[in-house]
Amino acid sequence: MSADPTELAAVQAVLCRQRAHRSFTDTPVDEATITDILELATRAPSAQNTQPWHFVVVQDADRRAEVWELASRLWEMGAKDATDGKVDDHMKSDVEQAVLGGFAAAPVSVVVCADTDLWPGNLMDSSIWPAIQNIMTAATAHGLGSALTTIGTILVDDLRAILKLPDSMEPKAVIPIGHPAKTLGSSRREPVRDHAHREEFGNGW
Ligand SMILES: Cc1cc2nc3c(=O)[nH]c(=O)nc-3n(C[C@H](O)[C@H](O)[C@H](O)COP(=O)(O)O)c2cc1C
Repeated sequence: MSADPTELAAVQAVLCRQRAHRSFTDTPVDEATITDILELATRAPSAQNTQPWHFVVVQDADRRAEVWELASRLWEMGAKDATDGKVDDHMKSDVEQAVLGGFAAAPVSVVVCADTDLWPGNLMDSSIWPAIQNIMTAATAHGLGSALTTIGTILVDDLRAILKLPDSMEPKAVIPIGHPAKTLGSSRREPVRDHAHREEFGNGW
């Protein structure tokens, strides 16, 4: 089977456009789009096809605010200081405005949970992140912005209480989804040659 140039170009465009969006308009996202994004998420691979993902879709504004308050609390508790020297001032202020309100403004937040009854430890992690990536890819293809965040899952007991999560459900990521308030260009990444090795580590690409 040979590559379909149209399909390839579409995949390349979506993957290069997929960025961490941190500000959103209040334009709603329709239910069919949300359902399609979740459907595409479930096309992800998982070990032994166990599909350990559960998606708690939070649209209620008060509940969204409660969920994102956990991220802002953690930011002030130390996450903010932990970024010192790791990100530039521009990114730090972008992240800060997102954590302190930008993410909560997105009309949809998806909390991705893993069913720990199905897989212990690392195996379960490996079976969740592909679905998380699919959510962001699908959102991008729908013309929406999203961001992968984990900061909101650290105060896990509070998140469990807000979402009434059973003990077996481990929240892994909180993904805001909405119409972007800013247009972001293509992602900037280091060249492949800095990360790829031919046959043995250290052999240039
Ligand atoms: C595991 C993980 C956690 C992340 N957590 C946050 C976060 O808490 N807040 C945030 O603004 N971005 C978060 N990001 C997004 C990254 O900052 C972003 O992907 C990276 O800076 C590259 O930006 P770009 O995708 O727009 O090119 C996270 C990304 C990953 C993979």
